Amino acid sequence: MNSAKFAIVYSQKIVTKREKGLQSRTNLPILKHSDLSEFHGDGYLYYLEDCLFFQLVSKNHNGPLSVSFKDLERRAGDSLFRQNLIRALGLSRGRRPQILDATAGLGSDSFLIATAGSEVVLFERNLIVYELLRDGLMRYAALGDKEYQKTRRMQLHKKDFNDMDANHFSPEVVYLDPMFPRSKKNTLSKKPLNYLQTLLAEENDESRMLAMAMEVATKRVVVKRGSNSPSLGVKASDFVFKGNSNRFDVYLT
Ligand SMILES: C[S@@+](CC[C@H](N)C(=O)[O-])C[C@H]1O[C@@H](n2cnc3c(N)ncnc32)[C@H](O)[C@@H]1O
Repeated sequence: MNSAKFAIVYSQKIVTKREKGLQSRTNLPILKHSDLSEFHGDGYLYYLEDCLFFQLVSKNHNGPLSVSFKDLERRAGDSLFRQNLIRALGLSRGRRPQILDATAGLGSDSFLIATAGSEVVLFERNLIVYELLRDGLMRYAALGDKEYQKTRRMQLHKKDFNDMDANHFSPEVVYLDPMFPRSKKNTLSKKPLNYLQTLLAEENDESRMLAMAMEVATKRVVVKRGSNSPSLGVKASDFVFKGNSNRFDVYLT
């Protein structure tokens, strides 16, 4: 959806400082809420109270998308070190490798990684997704010292992994979660995935990403796939962590 048209919508009498900041970072047009009926684009960003939301016009009935790490805290509870993601990445209570999450998305996986104690660098190339994630991180950091310390382990960059300079950064682990085809049930029930899939009909460069990740990672590359999706590599993975709806293919470098 590279040619998609997005905008920022403001609802107060004047454009606020944070809306101006958003506009200067994104270069998106800004319009009044009362002019929304004249907007013929694909989606729009807006602030409501302290939170940034994104509404896809085609998904008006679904409501908007935003990032809330607070809601994820339960998933990051006691069983964290038994979760396949954490095990596949090679994290344990005594081992916390540095991770590059090359396809950060809405940051849920990175949040679990940071909760388990690893430093994680996040790359996200999509402007809208990046802004939602940035906003979610800032709001979470403002909740208190514990939350702030966790977000300090999450270093977000608006960046395409394919443009990475491997000479400057070589993490132990590269994690890839490219958009694999979701089952119909999954697509209908999980709102963020449903949204992302509509928003991100971008070029499919997954095999290239795996090759690049193998160059960059000093220890391993982990790829999240749907349980029935084909693997990304030509070479078989070294081991696999299987769950009900997805699996993690691990390639040692
Ligand atoms: C399935 S989502 C990742 C979901 C994420 N693991 C989470 O927990 O929210 C895939 C994301 O990767 C991003 N992406 C795809 N290719 C990328 C690349 N080459 N560099 C940076 N980001 C990329 C897409 O824009 C999308 O937001």
